[in-house]
Amino acid sequence: MPIITTLQGRQFTLDGQESLLSAAARQQVNLPYSCKTGRCKTCRCKVVSGSSRALKDEIGLTPEERDAGWILSCVRTAGSDLLLDVEDLGTVEVPVSRTLPCRIDQLERLAPDVVKVTLRLPPTANWRHLAGQYIDVIGPNGVRRSYSLANDAGPLMELHIREVPGGVMSAYWFGQAKSNDLLRLQGPQGTFFLRDVAGKDLVFLATGTGIAPVRAMLQQLVGAAREKRDELPHSVTVYWGGRHPEDLYLDDLPLPPDAVVVKVLSRSDQDWQGRRGYVQQALLDDRRNFSDCVVYACGSDAMIQDARAALLAQGLPEKSFFADAFVCSA
Ligand SMILES: Cc1cc2nc3c(=O)[nH]c(=O)nc-3n(C[C@H](O)[C@H](O)[C@H](O)COP(=O)(O)OP(=O)(O)OC[C@H]3O[C@@H](n4cnc5c(N)ncnc54)[C@H](O)[C@@H]3O)c2cc1C
Ligand code: FES
Repeated sequence: MPIITTLQGRQFTLDGQESLLSAAARQQVNLPYSCKTGRCKTCRCKVVSGSSRALKDEIGLTPEERDAGWILSCVRTAGSDLLLDVEDLGTVEVPVSRTLPCRIDQLERLAPDVVKVTLRLPPTANWRHLAGQYIDVIGPNGVRRSYSLANDAGPLMELHIREVPGGVMSAYWFGQAKSNDLLRLQGPQGTFFLRDVAGKDLVFLATGTGIAPVRAMLQQLVGAAREKRDELPHSVTVYWGGRHPEDLYLDDLPLPPDAVVVKVLSRSDQDWQGRRGYVQQALLDDRRNFSDCVVYACGSDAMIQDARAALLAQGLPEKSFFADAFVCSA
């Protein structure tokens, strides 16, 4: 049974052909992850010593990353004992993921192609999640899709869901779903939550419904501004992008004191008074020095990959970039 050790000295064992990520989770070792399908590369880590084997194609890795020894823990297993260089989430108390029944409390159209879904859990569920995490909703015929939680605490859970043309769950949310429907969920999941941001320049990059987990983190910061001022970042800036004005479907983001929201459209008409282009470019236009910055990016995979490459090239430390890519979860 291979023994996996992280550079921080945490250990877990691997049973059969399970992935490194599943084995770690089973033994309460928290490694970073999001999609669990080899697409988003949140679980990217390096093998310092030992041999490993891919269980599925590591779609998210570039040839250069593969050559440099990066692997994706969600679709890799070990061929021997391994020493892994991976982010240590040891001190964060990540709530254990559970499968629970839930009912739709309310559905509200926020834009022509965005619906807000509020889910209600049984009173005994004792739900807890970290702002920024997501859940898997298990819908009709067992179809499972991931959605970020747009609020930082229960008892109700808020989702912002964009319609994907031809999408299986989109057909349900936009055609059949109604209040009181019974569904199941599995969560909370993912490691897209705020690390230590005290004194940093905190920047959020979001496209479309990628604003959902950002909203939850902003709520958390509003709470911290009241109760834990020493944990607050030095500044908070939110770049929210879409193609058309209706893609920026919220006017009332919860904002901690002095936070700034920059709205950016890539296909705006002449009436648009805000910024034009892409969120990552707007950030690069506004700022030259990224040494004290920490960036949380959420939404389209294209934006995230582009932002990561451009910001690291401008000096953002690799460990200061966190992302949740809304990759296809089918
Ligand atoms: C961690 C995570 C969190 C997510 N959070 C949210 C959220 O908060 N809100 C939200 O709206 N979505 C979110 N998503 C995306 C969501 O899980 C679904 O993938 C998406 O809604 C499509 O589901 P569907 O069943 O309607 O379409 P499917 O039946 O899965 O797909 C239909 C077609 O569209 C393509 N497709 C599916 N998804 C995408 C995509 N994202 N981009 C481009 N093409 C796609 C598929 O390849 C397929 O051809 C998240 C995904 C992940 C991994
Ligand atoms: S690629 Fe492994 S969690 Fe997304």
